[in-house]
Amino acid sequence: MVRSIREIRRDPLSFLNRMYAQFGDVVQFPIPDPPTYLVSDPEIARRILVTNARAYGKRTIQYTTLSLVTGEGLLTADTDVWRGQRRRLQPAFHHSTLEFIADHVRTSSDRLLARWSAVDGAIVDVDEAMMHLALEVVGKSLFGADLAGDAARLAQATVEALDVVVKKARSPLSPPLRVPTPANIALRKAIADLDSAVDAMLADRAKRPLARDESPRDMLDLLLARDDDGRVMPRDEIRNQVITFIVAGHETVASALTWAWQLLVAHPDSWNRLRAEALPIVEGGGPHFTDLGALPYTAAVIDEVLRLYPPAWLITRRSHEDDVLGGIEVKAGSLLIVSPWLVHRHTSIWDRPHQFIPERFLDQDGQRRRDVINGSGYIPFGAGPRLCIGRDMALVEAILVLASIAPRVDMTRVGATPAAMPMVTIRPQGGLPMRVTVKPVP
Ligand code: HEM
Repeated sequence: MVRSIREIRRDPLSFLNRMYAQFGDVVQFPIPDPPTYLVSDPEIARRILVTNARAYGKRTIQYTTLSLVTGEGLLTADTDVWRGQRRRLQPAFHHSTLEFIADHVRTSSDRLLARWSAVDGAIVDVDEAMMHLALEVVGKSLFGADLAGDAARLAQATVEALDVVVKKARSPLSPPLRVPTPANIALRKAIADLDSAVDAMLADRAKRPLARDESPRDMLDLLLARDDDGRVMPRDEIRNQVITFIVAGHETVASALTWAWQLLVAHPDSWNRLRAEALPIVEGGGPHFTDLGALPYTAAVIDEVLRLYPPAWLITRRSHEDDVLGGIEVKAGSLLIVSPWLVHRHTSIWDRPHQFIPERFLDQDGQRRRDVINGSGYIPFGAGPRLCIGRDMALVEAILVLASIAPRVDMTRVGATPAAMPMVTIRPQGGLPMRVTVKPVP
C-alpha cells in the first residue's frame, strides 16, 4: 500500500485498472481501519447501491470532506435527514424545470459561439469554455431571476471553496478545520465568503418575493416556497441545498461535455452523424426541449461519453451491517469504494469496452436502448435510492449543448490527447486546447 501511494497520486485511474487486473472484482486494501474494499463487479455494485442499499450509508471520508463546503445537503445527508430532503426537493427537478434549462442552454451556447466567433480560428481551451457554460446554466436554473450580481458571486465563491477543500483532501495528514494551518485558514475564509454570498442573495430575493399567483421563476423560488404542510425551509438548509446543486451540477456536466468534444474530434464519423442529426433542428431555430426526441444519436454520444469518462468516478459507502459481497464477508463499519470507471469497462457486460461506440446505446431503429441505460453495468448517475436527482437535467443540458454547437463549429486538436486526471470529476490534464472555427448556419 505504501509503495502504491505514489502511483495513486500520479495516476489514480491506472491504479484502479491495475487493481482490477491483478486482484479481480472485490479488492480489500491492506488498511486496518476501516476495512476498505474496491468494487468493480456490476452485480456487487448493484447490491451495495440498490438491492441492499439500506445497509450502506454516506459517512465516508469523501462525503465528510465535501460536507465542509456543502453542509448537510442532499448529496451528503444520510438516512432519515436525507429522506425528508429528497421528498421536499424532488419537485424542483420536475419536467417544467427542464424546459427552463433548455432555454438557458440555447442562450448560453449562442453566447459561447459569439465569443468563439470573435476569435475565429484561434486556439481556445474547450475544457474551460465548458466549465464556464455549465456554471452559467446551473446558475441561471437556480437563480435565473438575478444572475448578474449576487448569484455570480455565490457561484464563484462555491467553486473557490471546493477547490480549497479538494486540495486539503489530497493531503492525507491534513489536521481538522479548527487547527489554524494555512490550508485550514484558506478554507475557513472560502466558507465565510460563501456564507456572506448566500446571505446577500437571500436578502436580495426577499425584496422581490413571488407574488401569490405567480409561478416560480427559478429553483430558488421553489426552495423558498412553503411545503404542503405550510412549512418553510430553514435558512441553513436552503444554503446547503443551493451550494450542493452548484457543486453537484456544474463540474459533472462540464467534464462530460469536455470529453464529448475530445472524442468527437477523434471520431469524425460520429461528429458527422451527430451534425447531420442536429443541423435541421438548428436551422429551424432550435434546439428546444421538444427537439430532444429527434436527437437519439446525440443522446447516445453522451451516454457513451459518460460510460468511458464517468465524471463521478468513485462512489463511496460505509456499511451499517455485516454483508457478504462476492463471497467475501464485509463487516459493519467498512468502507466500500464502487468504481463506475471499472464497472463501465467490465467485460461481463461490455463488448470492446475501451472503444468509443455510441451505437451500443441504440437499437436497430436508431432509438435509445433503455435496457442498456438502466442495466447494472451502467452507473454514471449512481443507482437505487441515491440516484442522481439531477440526472434528467444533466442529460437535457449535455444533449442540447452538443446539438446547439456541433453543427456550427469545426475543431482541430492541438497537441497530444490529454491524459485523464481524476479530481472531483475526471478532467483533461492541462485543459483541452482546440483550434475552433465557427461556421455560418443558413
Ligand atoms: C453528468 C452530470 C452528472 C453526473 C455524472 C452526476 C453523478 C451523480 C452520482 C453518481 C450521484 C450519486 C452519488 C452516490 O450515490 O453517492 C449523484 C447524486 C446527486 N447529484 Fe448528480 N450528477 C450529474 C449532474 C447533476 C446535476 C445537474 C445536479 C443538480 C443541479 C446534480 C445533483 C445531485 C444531487 C443533489 C445528488 C444527491 C442525490 C441524493 O442522494 O438524493 N447532479 N450525481
